[in-house]
Amino acid sequence: MTEQVTRAMFDDVMAPNYAPAAMIPVRGEGSRVWDQEGKEYIDFAGGIAVTALGHSHPTLVDTMREQAGKLWHLSNVMTNEPALRLAKKLTDKTFADRVFFANSGGEANEAAFKLARRYAFDHFGPEKNEIISFYQSFHGRTLFTVSVGGQPKYTEGFAPVPGGIKHCDYNDIDALKGLISDKTCAVVMEPIQGEGGIIPADPEFAQQVRAMCDEHKALLVFDEVQSGVGRTGTLYAYEQTGVTPDILTTAKALGNGFPVAAMLATAEVANSLAVGTHGSTYGGNPMAAAVAEAVIDIVDTPEVLDGVKKRHQLFVDELTAINDKYHVFKDIRGMGLLMGAEVSDELAGHAKDFLTHAADEGLFVLVAGPNVVRFAPSLIIPEADIKEGFQRFERAVAKTVADLKK
Ligand SMILES: Cc1ncc(COP(=O)(O)O)c(C=O)c1O
Repeated sequence: MTEQVTRAMFDDVMAPNYAPAAMIPVRGEGSRVWDQEGKEYIDFAGGIAVTALGHSHPTLVDTMREQAGKLWHLSNVMTNEPALRLAKKLTDKTFADRVFFANSGGEANEAAFKLARRYAFDHFGPEKNEIISFYQSFHGRTLFTVSVGGQPKYTEGFAPVPGGIKHCDYNDIDALKGLISDKTCAVVMEPIQGEGGIIPADPEFAQQVRAMCDEHKALLVFDEVQSGVGRTGTLYAYEQTGVTPDILTTAKALGNGFPVAAMLATAEVANSLAVGTHGSTYGGNPMAAAVAEAVIDIVDTPEVLDGVKKRHQLFVDELTAINDKYHVFKDIRGMGLLMGAEVSDELAGHAKDFLTHAADEGLFVLVAGPNVVRFAPSLIIPEADIKEGFQRFERAVAKTVADLKK
């Protein structure tokens, strides 16, 4: 007999590094999710910017079923057809010539940072090893990626951490000028900071970063783990900055929830990842690659990408209308369907309250730090779900405001 599964079990059997919600979701379809009690939620979160095509997308379910019946795993001692097809698509559609597959954003970034160091080592010697990244950035949870990330809370208690890393204010080119040198091997940035509060890079800043990387022969690494795969209205956000990176990492929406990630690079740079320098047992697994190929086929169409721009406007309009009534946000910003609403000074530190009340009302939203409510719904969320979701969100806002007055 199978045991009755309850949320209470979490505290008995799981490591305490997460604090999941009280309910347990059991089923999803499109942008709707149901929990064990049958309560229905509208999903404006998409995991954390992952399920770009919603839940149980029929083409993805069919693709997974078909591949599951053919071949699950081989190891990288052999290559496989889905991985090669996916790599061909990614290189055809981007600046990149070469792909390394991984299983998570953190792993793709780990590969990117190792490659940047290795490329500099091969071409300029061991002294050129410094990585510059930006405060508030987030690049993953491995020791190297938390160290490159710009949020000290994630390295606390894990010393000694890898060295040769400097942090710089985002969107501040003078600060970068003061840090970059011929010892810099790479500058790493998110074209729009996600976890750090939904902060887009000024295009002019991104262009100056590119120019300074060129001047100092440093590589430019774009972490598009959160912003990639159509989320900002183009397949990758770099297309909108007027800047081409040397290395780009992508994960999250790439598998719509099936674990898969990729590091994309120019051939010249990727050559430094010679045989034996790096690897992953599961990276480029046929199941993951088959799903990701189907995701790219669906997302990279005018229908979906134009739809993101249209839905962006709906989100802006709905959030603005709610804000006109309740005055709870001091800024509404973002790109495509990666949106943030920064709470007003009176509500500083209370973004999470919106999330909690929204869940009570049957809506999933996210936060990005203590002051920003974040929205990262499916790229194909129906308009009716957006409307209904915002009716629920308005009730959550009203409750948050009422709480504050207590
Ligand atoms: C920009 C960015 N990079 C890297 C990561 C880490 O990805 P993963 O959790 O798949 O390792 C995240 C996750 O939130 C992210 O937003």
